[in-house]
Amino acid sequence: MNSKIKSLLDELTLEEKISLCSGSDYWHTKEIKRLGIPAVMVSDGPNGLRKQDMENAESAANTSIKAVCFPAGVNLAASFDTETVERAGEAIGSECQAENVAAILAPGINIKRSPLCGRNFEYYSEDPLLAGKIAAAYIRGVQSKGVGTSLKHFCANNQEFRRNSYDSRVDERTLREIYLKGFEIAVKESEPWTVMCAYNMVNGVQMSENKRILTDILRDEWGFKGLVVSDWGAVRDRVKGIIAGLDLEMPYSFGAYDGLVAEAVRNGELDEADLDRCVARVLEFVYRAIENHDDDASWDKDEHHRLARDIADECIVLLKNKNKVLPIKSDEYTLFIGGFAKKPRMQGGGSSHVNCVSIDSVLYAVQGNTKVTYEEGFSAVDDSYDERKFQRAVNAAADVDKVVVFAGLPDGWESEGYDRKHIDLPKVQNDLIEAVAAVNPHVAVVLENGSPVAMPWIEKAEAVMETYLCGEGVGVATVRALFGRSNPSGRLPETFPLRLEDNSAYIDFSGDCSQIDYREGIFAGYRYYTKKKIPVLFPFGHGCSYSTFSYGRMTVDAEKMKDNETVEVAVDVINESDIPGKEVVQLYVEPDIENTKIRRPVRELRAFSKIHLDPHEKKTVSFILDKSAFAYYDTDISDWYVEPGDYRIEICKDAETVIGFKTISVVPKKRKKIVYDENSIYKDIMEDPAARKIAKPFFDRYIGEHLTSQNTDESAEEAFGSDYEVYLADTTLRTTVNMSNGLITYEDMRELIEKLNK
Ligand code: BGC
Repeated sequence: MNSKIKSLLDELTLEEKISLCSGSDYWHTKEIKRLGIPAVMVSDGPNGLRKQDMENAESAANTSIKAVCFPAGVNLAASFDTETVERAGEAIGSECQAENVAAILAPGINIKRSPLCGRNFEYYSEDPLLAGKIAAAYIRGVQSKGVGTSLKHFCANNQEFRRNSYDSRVDERTLREIYLKGFEIAVKESEPWTVMCAYNMVNGVQMSENKRILTDILRDEWGFKGLVVSDWGAVRDRVKGIIAGLDLEMPYSFGAYDGLVAEAVRNGELDEADLDRCVARVLEFVYRAIENHDDDASWDKDEHHRLARDIADECIVLLKNKNKVLPIKSDEYTLFIGGFAKKPRMQGGGSSHVNCVSIDSVLYAVQGNTKVTYEEGFSAVDDSYDERKFQRAVNAAADVDKVVVFAGLPDGWESEGYDRKHIDLPKVQNDLIEAVAAVNPHVAVVLENGSPVAMPWIEKAEAVMETYLCGEGVGVATVRALFGRSNPSGRLPETFPLRLEDNSAYIDFSGDCSQIDYREGIFAGYRYYTKKKIPVLFPFGHGCSYSTFSYGRMTVDAEKMKDNETVEVAVDVINESDIPGKEVVQLYVEPDIENTKIRRPVRELRAFSKIHLDPHEKKTVSFILDKSAFAYYDTDISDWYVEPGDYRIEICKDAETVIGFKTISVVPKKRKKIVYDENSIYKDIMEDPAARKIAKPFFDRYIGEHLTSQNTDESAEEAFGSDYEVYLADTTLRTTVNMSNGLITYEDMRELIEKLNK
């Protein structure tokens, strides 16, 4: 704490301190005129600045100023490109700086546990490494402009149903490996100015009162130094919140809690030092914003609009491209169908909604191209049928070289505030795609949606291009990709299942009323589909390109490593085509499933890199892996641990397609201490070299005594079969006492346990 904050703390009255711990209105911290403490403003994000228009606040309580709408969170993750995301962050940061916004309430990085979550479009991925790295890049970008971020919603906030109150029941290992991991990466790599605590409870404790997560883990373990702010209205008990380390309540509760906090200080329930810590962090945030404020900052609307298009280029995922139907050639007569071509859906609903500077529709982007015609076919806003429009589109489709159907989810079908009930597109769209494909074999479908959809017509469409919610540059970016003026290079940050029922959270999503059991554990997203060998529509990491890439030599600079060392992996990537393009190199690690004692996914993403390759160019991509690539969270020792053994380091096209691998043996520098007791089993003891030495005579004796007790002359092999070690594998130490006819005593066993634990 610096001296200025210290002396302010000395001067503040108890009431003033308490008042600083909540907002003055929806968007501002409180000012204390007497001491010259100013107020600062925060605003939503994440996909652009949503700053409430305070000047016109009365006429339009919810109107925000004009800002550029960048691609949604899911798009940024689909770029698999931290540089692109950082550029988006920089642009958003400079808009905030120019508009005098101290921090943007972004990014949102909750794991996409189910395709149904209404806010999936805002969130990044089903994979915590991708989510964490993309978040870190976004935060770096924004904060490089002297503007703070608010990493949200911390944590295990993965649905909208009962969003203010539900209780996420998550076991510790799952919490650490899946639901906290992305936050951990972003906090450690990019130090967000603030973290936003979520509405929900985690394992029975309201997040706004969750000291273990807000303080013990976030601050003490990860080293977070910034401010913890509540999600809007997430506070239940302000006193408990202060004790837990929730610094700032937003927006404000008209002083509802202030009296209770004062009372708690007076009666000793709340230590004033806890309150002081929160106040200090609020003040640090306020002065950090003031010191970083640049009065001369400005931003250029046109430039940012163009940037929104360029960023959108990087995020488009080409899911399928049979017979190279795309890109469309300039001399091909093409019919565009679908209301989305005219009225694009390019952002999601709720607190992230940006008041766009201008919107490029697809039709705007093809203006002047006389080879392109348009039929609406269906509306972009609902599932209504207009037989005449439908039929006109089908008729027109028969007479052109190619058809592009612009399909997607209407605005009201997915939003903050509620979850979807299914993953279907409107029926009229599915029907029209089928009908058009019946009269023209060259159909491409362009999708505008925030979360996976089912594609019953997948075999009939030659191409599918997932543009997600591409921001205000959507039309130009989509048309550039369709006509090959850009080359799609996005990859899916989530699995597209064949059926909703295949998703691992299917049974427990939304739960029984308020209690949501994360029974699938660590098997979120591809970790489940690959484990269960469940076929999917498109796997995590999938995406095509107009270029053709091949992979060459792969090297790993060690065959063995200790977990306090690192290893370098390199692989050659070659662009075999005449088209410049970008490849996403994905590195996964696969433990030796046959020999592991731990329940683990088949493989997990541990590194990725997006590279540009000119025609026929070759580049070497390298990665440095450390302990975190091999470790799991071990609840026995409450720490990350690498089980000694072999691991395959795999270079993959996606979560299911391995291109090449090398095996490395990894051992922990310090082996986990195993504590033996009566229930320890033969196999575990004999696998531990030190324990084996001690226990072998004991077990030999047991085998001998056991045979004697059976009154047989048979050898162990004869009695138990040649593989008698397998037979004995699960025998507990106490069984040796129980089954040796009194020849091995409890005392013998206790002595052995004592020796083993030494
Ligand atoms: C949302 C947050 C948002 C806040 C302020 C809440 O309802 O969950 O993501 O930042 O409102 O608008």
